[in-house]
Amino acid sequence: MESPFKEDVVRGKVALITGGGSGIGLEICTQFGRHGASIAIMGRRKQVLDSAVSALQSLGIKAVGFEGDVRNQEDAKRVVESTFRHFGRLDILVNAAAGNFLVSAEDLSPNGFKTVMDIDTVGTFTMCREALKYLKKGGPGRSSSGGGTILNISATLHYTAAWYQIHVSAAKAAIDGITRNLALEWGTDYDIRVNGIAPGPISGTPGMSKLAPEEIDNKAREYMPLYKLGEKWDIAMAALYLASDAGKYVNGTTLIVDGGLWLSRPRH
Ligand code: HXC
Repeated sequence: MESPFKEDVVRGKVALITGGGSGIGLEICTQFGRHGASIAIMGRRKQVLDSAVSALQSLGIKAVGFEGDVRNQEDAKRVVESTFRHFGRLDILVNAAAGNFLVSAEDLSPNGFKTVMDIDTVGTFTMCREALKYLKKGGPGRSSSGGGTILNISATLHYTAAWYQIHVSAAKAAIDGITRNLALEWGTDYDIRVNGIAPGPISGTPGMSKLAPEEIDNKAREYMPLYKLGEKWDIAMAALYLASDAGKYVNGTTLIVDGGLWLSRPRH
């Protein structure tokens, strides 16, 4: 679908996207690139990274991939520094890396719970912390221009409760807390805007294929009148709005992009 944004809305900006090799993360890379940004992708799997980088480059986008696991602080530090060395600045950090699986609370081991908390929540905090030096107003490569911005990919499942997702609910609720607290502290001290996006069910993502097999999907349509799938594009457009100057007065919010689904109730 054609973008409603001008093609230079993020021109000259450098974006680092964790989990940018596939799914929503990759679409954010693509749309940021199409709108003028240079892209660094962080991911664990070399093959996935390589193919994402080639796909971006074939669109004429400046892109580079760095292998790393957001659970590892050394990896986080190295990837942030490599991004800066490669492009000479860092303007946008998108935390899109996430881990997930369906399991009842009863059957989930403490280590399974911790694994998702480590990827989603601790990983998000670690990346933000390592990127701070480069994102803050007056930081390396920023001269006296304003600060950069952070986007954390969240969810809506923790607004109520979700079957077999206790680990993800906890992790995403904590991410929303991180978004608000960093918006307060770093918005005030460093002119960094920190926002989140809470996607609804998005077609063609690893999350959808893992979490909503067809039978769940069909049932959901019955009891949720507003149930319809979004596209990765919808999330990328929200990301462009929040990361560009269009969103310059938005700080500390998590934008729900779910077609109203989480509000949905049966009519009778
Ligand atoms: C129960 C499981 C499990 C499963 C792993 N564990 N998979 N428990 N059911 N299906 C437990 C293990 O038993 C182990 O605990 C612990 O978790 C760590 O498992 P590992 O396999 O060692 O972890 P690791 O190799 O690091 O893999 C991480 C992962 C993996 C999260 C388990 O699935 C992953 O990284 N997936 C790719 C990312 C992904 O799925 N992205 C889509 C995100 S969608 P024990 O006790 O045995 O040691 C998304 C949408 C959210 O985020 C919003 C939804 C609405």
